[in-house]
Amino acid sequence: MCGIVGYIGNREAYPIIVKGLKRLEYRGYDSAGITLFGKAGKTFKTKGKVADLERIAGNNNNAGNTLGLGHTRWATHGIPSDHNAHPHLSNTGRISIVHNGIIENYASLKKILTENGYSFKSDTDTEVLVNLIEYIKLSQDVKIGRAVQIALNQVIGAYAIAVFDLDRPEEIVVAKLGSPLAIGLGTDEYFIASDASPFIEYTNRTIYLDDNEMAVISRDKGFKMYSITSDKALTPKIQEIQLSLEKIEKAGYDHFMLKEIHEQPTAITDTFRGRLLIDKHTINISGIEQHLDVFKNAERITIVACGTSWHAGLVAEYLFEDAARIPVEVEYASEFRYRNPVINKGDIVIAISQSGETADTLAAIKLAKEKGAFVFGICNVVGSSIAREADSGAYTHAGPEIGVASTKAFTTQLTLITMMGLRLGQLRGTISSQDFERVGKQLTKLPKLIERVLKYDSLIQEIAREYKDATNFLYLGRGYNFPAALEGALKLKEISYIHAEGYPAAEMKHGPIALIDENMPVVVIATNKGHYEKIVSNVQEIKSRNAKIIAIVSKGDESVKLLSDHVIEIPEITESLVPILASVPLQLLSYHIAIMRGCNVDQPRNLAKSVTVE
Ligand code: M6R
Repeated sequence: MCGIVGYIGNREAYPIIVKGLKRLEYRGYDSAGITLFGKAGKTFKTKGKVADLERIAGNNNNAGNTLGLGHTRWATHGIPSDHNAHPHLSNTGRISIVHNGIIENYASLKKILTENGYSFKSDTDTEVLVNLIEYIKLSQDVKIGRAVQIALNQVIGAYAIAVFDLDRPEEIVVAKLGSPLAIGLGTDEYFIASDASPFIEYTNRTIYLDDNEMAVISRDKGFKMYSITSDKALTPKIQEIQLSLEKIEKAGYDHFMLKEIHEQPTAITDTFRGRLLIDKHTINISGIEQHLDVFKNAERITIVACGTSWHAGLVAEYLFEDAARIPVEVEYASEFRYRNPVINKGDIVIAISQSGETADTLAAIKLAKEKGAFVFGICNVVGSSIAREADSGAYTHAGPEIGVASTKAFTTQLTLITMMGLRLGQLRGTISSQDFERVGKQLTKLPKLIERVLKYDSLIQEIAREYKDATNFLYLGRGYNFPAALEGALKLKEISYIHAEGYPAAEMKHGPIALIDENMPVVVIATNKGHYEKIVSNVQEIKSRNAKIIAIVSKGDESVKLLSDHVIEIPEITESLVPILASVPLQLLSYHIAIMRGCNVDQPRNLAKSVTVE
């Protein structure tokens, strides 16, 4: 978490950095800061958002500062406060640093530094790192680049850092391990950021640092890359950025979340375009085609993910087992990595992650690789760490998702997963060609069906108005609709701060039913064809305890409708695709409730889009 931005060149640094930080606020937004250097260099930092930083920094747009480092924070060590905000300065005030990540051994380093006369103004691990760098620079009489390298070899943890030393005013030192860092290459100017969005209007050439890489970026001498662990000079891999400015702006919507909900028809089309070749009776996902033997012969699949991506993994479990008859286990990445999981050579481990940077998921696939598994990554962010670490993979092509609540990332993950399930079933001879074709064709119709569901917006707003003051919600579903219920509940709690639980509908009798009374709204996803009468019975059980029922049903439903207080009809579709379609009204319900409660839907409290800490 945390976003960092840096600039060195001939332009005014302040507006570039502030605009860049606003684009990175999805990574954390509890405090912000900036160090400027040039004619009127200064450090400003504050608790709050980048807009608060602008208020305290005043107008620096023509101050003659052509170098700067900025930071937007998601607190790890130390509460959100002015003194814990970055940039952090060393004891002499000559070195400043912005950092995304965690220095795990900061306490022992702090002790050594304290014994050597250093004192600390903040509670952060980052202030320890900047003072360690200074201590090494002064005690070993080395330049800042070398001091950073020596310090990083003493550090345990994860970092993307940018460091500036007043004694070397023409350069910035950057380094990466575990947290992302991109360098934008302009003409006689360089940009540094946690992703490429802060500099896309200035250059389309970028270098994504790999783990254990560092660079010394100099205004006049260009930049030099090195390995942090050896002194080896490295040749940079320059890539062209595929991001456009309009894709990362709100395009007339009030919030990114709403824009992203409405982008789903296009995003899903982008996921299956060129891959779902129903006319040719095949699906071409190159990450699978290049490893056909692995997918044909694997004896089991383990899926690792967190949050919404974990819910997508649950849908994959149902689908892969059904279509490809292969045993699947879905694991929270954070639990998987700290167990001693049984992974055998030939097993496939699939990591699902929108950002491709989630620390636990990344660590889980590293562990899986060590144990001999074949790792397949399903990511949205191109070039992200998980995408690079995996043996193979496929991008969802959802486009940038800025709202912290995952929406189009989830439905595009499900689209990709559906194609994977069909292709695996075909490869392993476990799906009939009729079913392959039927589900494949329905997938191509989803964008149009989602357009139809989006038209229920005003009905959903009415429902939201009625329940906006509820303190608890239950979400229920059976089969494929169980993960959809979990996802609906997560969406509501993370942006509206209403407590919500997702349950398999039949499991309710084993405890949660005790919670049900007239004050409990229950959202039931009741589209099941196979076990329709079972879900009807579950709805009846809830009704007889006086709960308010909001039902998502298939067009043509008769029984559930009669029992429900509110009904949202979605078009009829094969069961495995319902989670995609049913997610849309659930996203809108959460969105409207959160707005009516005055919540910041794009930047909910305590959260960040990209969770790069454990
Ligand atoms: O980037 P990832 O998909 O790995 O992120 C995983 C979770 O942090 C993420 O899905 C989170 O649960 C969302 N905020 C939910 O909307």
